[in-house]
Amino acid sequence: MGMKSKSRSAFSNSDNQKTLHKNLEFTATEQYKLLRTNLSFTLQKDNDECAIIGVTSAMRGEGKSTTAVNLSYVLAESGKKVLLVDCDLRIPSVAKKMQIENEVGLTDLLKGGESFHMKKFQSEHYSNWYILPSGPLPPNPSELLGSKKMENVLKILSENFDYIILDLPPVNIVSDALTVSKYIDGMIVVIREDYTEKKELENCFRLLKLSDVNVLGCVINESKNGKGTYSKYKYRRYYKYYKTYGKYGDKDSK
Ligand SMILES: Nc1ncnc2c1ncn2[C@@H]1O[C@H](COP(=O)(O)OP(=O)(O)O)[C@@H](O)[C@H]1O
Ligand SMILES: [Mg+2]
Repeated sequence: MGMKSKSRSAFSNSDNQKTLHKNLEFTATEQYKLLRTNLSFTLQKDNDECAIIGVTSAMRGEGKSTTAVNLSYVLAESGKKVLLVDCDLRIPSVAKKMQIENEVGLTDLLKGGESFHMKKFQSEHYSNWYILPSGPLPPNPSELLGSKKMENVLKILSENFDYIILDLPPVNIVSDALTVSKYIDGMIVVIREDYTEKKELENCFRLLKLSDVNVLGCVINESKNGKGTYSKYKYRRYYKYYKTYGKYGDKDSK
């Protein structure tokens, strides 16, 4: 293990990078470490067993991907062998956040063409942190994530990792997170303060319950800056979300 030094400037091309892994402020890092500790208590797992954990939320833009990246980072930091998988096969963001290629990823493993040479997904930050991007986007994400193939891929991967963190799409919009939930040990639900509406949250938990999802806990994600323009930002995000998904217009849209 050990962190390769990488100049800060590599991340300076985007504001987003400030909320990610090694660029986090001390207090945020402490919160993710607390989440890591809580997880180890909540998960009913033997030490040598792999835990597969999904990260989802009600809507888009609440910080699922940010949470998934940072949680996998602090787990890797503690010496665990961790795989982060971008399971948002509609609007993937892990490759962009991690500034890695998205040429090959999960969908290639699901197609069966790719062999499991995980070496190429090893992150440059920690040698025990692996990041599997979405790969090329499929026409049927919900079906794929709920498929036997997905179960198989996760089974094979779990033989090689202590933790697998799945970055999932939002529950209230598409069924993807729910269809894959039968293959995971538990779900973390991200709630963005002053952003997630109460009725959306209620709907989210209703859907999770209907699918018998084991909710491990919630992460309250809060943005400290930009409060002044928050409502505008919120509205725009929701709007953009529906618009983007409307384009796919597939039958699993909720
Ligand atoms: N705690 C936070 N403080 C500031 N910005 C944040 C925070 N959490 C997320 N963001 C930003 O909000 C946007 C949406 O976050 P993301 O994790 O991609 O959400 P999701 O995966 O739920 O759609 C990103 O631009 C991200 O950088
Ligand atoms: Mg996301």
